[in-house]
Amino acid sequence: MSKPDEGLAGRHIVLGLSGGIACYKSAELVRELGRAGATVQVVMTEAAQAFITPVTMQALSGRPVLSSQWDAREPNSMAHINLSREADAILVAPASADFIAKIAQGRADELLSLLCVARPIDKCPLLLAPAMNREMWLHPATQRNVAQAVADGATVLGPGEGDQACGEIGDGRMLEATELCDELIAFFQPKLLAGQRVLITAGPTFEAIDPVRGITNLSSGKMGFAIARAAQEAGAEVTLVAGPVHLPTPRHVRRIDVRSAQQMHDAVLPLAPSQQVFVATAAVADWRPASLAEHKIKKDGTHRVPSFELSENPDILAAVARLPVRPYCVGFAAESQDVAHHAREKLLRKNVPLIVGNLGPATFGRDDNTLVLVDAAGDREIPTADKLSLARTLVREIADRLPT
Ligand code: CTP
Repeated sequence: MSKPDEGLAGRHIVLGLSGGIACYKSAELVRELGRAGATVQVVMTEAAQAFITPVTMQALSGRPVLSSQWDAREPNSMAHINLSREADAILVAPASADFIAKIAQGRADELLSLLCVARPIDKCPLLLAPAMNREMWLHPATQRNVAQAVADGATVLGPGEGDQACGEIGDGRMLEATELCDELIAFFQPKLLAGQRVLITAGPTFEAIDPVRGITNLSSGKMGFAIARAAQEAGAEVTLVAGPVHLPTPRHVRRIDVRSAQQMHDAVLPLAPSQQVFVATAAVADWRPASLAEHKIKKDGTHRVPSFELSENPDILAAVARLPVRPYCVGFAAESQDVAHHAREKLLRKNVPLIVGNLGPATFGRDDNTLVLVDAAGDREIPTADKLSLARTLVREIADRLPT
């Protein structure tokens, strides 16, 4: 199993629940936030307690739930001030139509809305995860209130669309717990690539021999997908051109699925001139069968093995680096030995400013990796870590190298 992303380590989150059937997802959300390293203080409105009990939320968060501004347990009787001064963020999930209306109006008639109004706006961000029936979400009053809450500094996460508890289908579902946790982790990442367009290749390619066989390799695509996520978290608009892998698409990333090296090349080249950064993590097959058999190649009883002519595939990274208007190009070098030496050779041969070297057999399919960054200034090792942490480090390194 992969290690949980500790992207909220050291963060203290106030998780507010207003009334809605999506409260059942908030129980899982507390667990997710905890797994990501956060401490969580739950605050519930009276309506939320009709859907899920404070007992459940206390057991999962490990802290007594607060629900009243008159709570005598607070020594100074100022729960709204104490809560909002300690928190790194307030996440209201679910945020009902009524709660969003209160936020839009600045009302403060119970603890949760009171502490939202009382929070220092510049230090304690407010995130709202709407959850309601699709007609309620689309109602002009709700849309007006959401726009007002955003204008006043709130961030809206979702909503998602799909089956609703009422039996209808449409926009208004609260995001799933894992999605909300990922959104919160992304929210806290520094926006080092804000406004930049980043294009990434990932995974293996598959070069067909006949309709059922082909040449491929052991690349899992995990590093490329982690870089796509890290770049998106850093504020970039990310396009991921993926070979045949079954990994989930990182949130807000545009994904283009391809199979062969030629298809990857044809997807990348037209996009490349409009990008600021191109990261080639894909393990592109160097050769493909020169011709594709129309039908499955059968044994003919003679024990003669078939032989194949191979043609060379286009080098996608080198082709992008040759463009007259080119993005900042980052290549990967998957080697079995002498990583830094081969990486430098590729830096020069492909004429790119940065190559990231790694040991292919030690990393393909695994969740962690060790990288060596090779550029004109020298070699620098990035010690072993999980691929998402490495991806975030790499995003910082790339951002530092971009022309201002
Ligand atoms: N690459 C590419 N297109 C290819 C081959 C490689 O875009 N047809 C990119 C990879 O995505 C990687 C870098 O070039 O960023 C180096 O890939 P690698 O397979 O390590 O090197 P090759 O150029 O194929 O050289 P060799 O196989 O000799 O190591």
